[in-house]
Amino acid sequence: MSDSPDHEKDRGQPTVRVRNIVKRFGDQTVLNGINLDVYPGETMVIMGGSGSGKSTLLRHMIGSIQPDVGIVELFGQNICAMNDHELNETRKRFGILFQSGALFNSMTVAQNVALPLMEHTDLDPEIIAIQVKIKLELVGLREHAHKLPSQISGGMKKRAGLARALSLDPRILFYDEPSAGLDPVTSAEIDQLIIALTRQLGVTSVVVTHEMDSAFTIADRMAMLDRGRMLVVDDRAFFEQLRDAPEDQRGSFSEEQQLIRQFLRGDAEGPLSARRTADDYERDLLGLPENDVPAFIQTPSLQTTRSANAEARVDAPDEPDPTEPMTDTKVPM
Ligand SMILES: Nc1ncnc2c1ncn2[C@@H]1O[C@H](COP(=O)(O)OP(=O)(O)OP(=O)(O)O)[C@@H](O)[C@H]1O
Ligand SMILES: [Mg+2]
Repeated sequence: MSDSPDHEKDRGQPTVRVRNIVKRFGDQTVLNGINLDVYPGETMVIMGGSGSGKSTLLRHMIGSIQPDVGIVELFGQNICAMNDHELNETRKRFGILFQSGALFNSMTVAQNVALPLMEHTDLDPEIIAIQVKIKLELVGLREHAHKLPSQISGGMKKRAGLARALSLDPRILFYDEPSAGLDPVTSAEIDQLIIALTRQLGVTSVVVTHEMDSAFTIADRMAMLDRGRMLVVDDRAFFEQLRDAPEDQRGSFSEEQQLIRQFLRGDAEGPLSARRTADDYERDLLGLPENDVPAFIQTPSLQTTRSANAEARVDAPDEPDPTEPMTDTKVPM
């Protein structure tokens, strides 16, 4: 299962092209040979369990970290080979919505949205004010322009972050967990907003999420990461079929398909939980720390719960370490 050649026909050049990305942090191989193409105007959703490498992949796409191996192209240009000036110019052509919204607390919503325009353009303040109103109207926040971030709800912060991400009229929007921490209704509203913006503005969107409802609502295509490897990239319909197939067909699924199905359905039982239990038990028995599963302890029980190409995955991470310092530089919003 991989990106079908059908998808690549007549689509022209990908807006985002990721080729063979490998990234290690210390002993951990966090991304292990990732390929992904995102075409103009489509919404690509990147899914995967916690620690599978989704945010790390996104950071590569926005040039905030460099791969050890491989390249990332945006608009046909290799951003890994760019100098700071070139990268800053490219950054003006995409917007980013981080999980927190990343607003400046001492500035009003309008000032937050105006900031990229003040930093990156020579526009007059009056023109900037009009631009800000247009962006706030797009996300339904025009009447809250004067409020501080502390005076608006979580969903409104996301909208404000989105308005700021839109301020320079980007051709690509990158989202990291846009609906995380929101109630289901607000989360659904953000999904609808993403769809509406993609249609109205014709932007290409890359969305990292593990919220399955959201993923199925907004995706044209979906990509599934597992322990730093890309399991499958395909149309939303492919994943819908896998999710909705009757239980009695399960026997005909490959190991990987069963794993994806469990993830999509949020089932308590399946290869994911079997793998976790087996890993944890063997680590515990041998007194090994997490993420340290040398080949010699791969018992048959472990192997049967992994897919055929999983040998290369043994050094990939299970869980993110929240205590790990994030060393990469922050990208200006
Ligand atoms: N700068 C860093 N230094 C060291 N390790 C890192 C760094 N960034 C990420 N990692 C590690 O890489 C792995 C993948 O992290 P990443 O944040 O990409 O996961 P994720 O799929 O986005 O997870 P989540 O769904 O929890 O956000 C984790 O084990 C994390 O600890
Ligand atoms: Mg993440």
